[in-house]
Amino acid sequence: MIKVSHVSKRYNKSDMVVKDVSFSVEKGQIFGLLGPNGAGKTTLMQMIATLLFPTSGIVTICGLDSQSSAQEIRRKIGFLTTEIKMDPLSTPNQLFRFFSELYDIPKEEIEKRKQERFARFGITPFADKKIVELSTGMKQKVSIVISLIHDPEVIIFDEPTNGLDILTSRQVMDYLLELKQSGRSVLLSTHIFSVAEQLCDEIAILVDGHIVDQGSAQALTEKTGSKNFEEAFFKLYTENHIGG
Ligand SMILES: Nc1ncnc2c1ncn2[C@@H]1O[C@H](COP(=O)(O)OP(=O)(O)O)[C@@H](O)[C@H]1O
Ligand SMILES: [Mg+2]
Repeated sequence: MIKVSHVSKRYNKSDMVVKDVSFSVEKGQIFGLLGPNGAGKTTLMQMIATLLFPTSGIVTICGLDSQSSAQEIRRKIGFLTTEIKMDPLSTPNQLFRFFSELYDIPKEEIEKRKQERFARFGITPFADKKIVELSTGMKQKVSIVISLIHDPEVIIFDEPTNGLDILTSRQVMDYLLELKQSGRSVLLSTHIFSVAEQLCDEIAILVDGHIVDQGSAQALTEKTGSKNFEEAFFKLYTENHIGG
């Protein structure tokens, strides 16, 4: 569903911040990009979501090329990034209506989907409050609901549990597992090894723009002779980070 082939990126005159990255994500799979701040996760996610173009290499989503078919791809993906902020003076109800219309969701579907999803995430009592008045966790849940308003086949979530308390984080993770079970392809990035370990079928460790190793949490733990995945992640990081 997602195929990334030899993708590199430099911003203007910067150094390469993503370097020759290749991986693919299948239907019904959760694939994780795990790396510290500055590793290149957001840059890579934005290229996959067609918001940035690679300096070199190719991204395809459902067989469509990210550069020539960007518009078509955007209707197939649900994208959540740390860089997008919702209008602070809008309410969840207003945002839901606006994005439903943007995606041409049939009128009779809109109310049904809204009630179901707002209830699912406990948004209903806050549906007419301004975004600025909501807690970080509630804002993130609204962002997630909005990003999936059109039931996309492919889900691209950049640090979806970042800054959330442990209970909200669990709710988001459970929802991602449900989406996987329903056959969606999920690509997520995180700097939290336990999120990757608990959710992902396959994990790529990203250090300084490179994938330094890839596999299931268990496979990476065994391969590096570590006692747990946390140790495996630190080993892979310190062995590969420039300057240790
Ligand atoms: N718009 C930009 N212009 C120039 N450099 C950028 C820009 N965005 C990110 N970078 C740089 O690219 C590198 C990777 O950043 P980013 O993709 O945000 O990593 P991550 O999401 O893993 O923290 C960092 O060194 C960052 O400073
Ligand atoms: Mg980031």
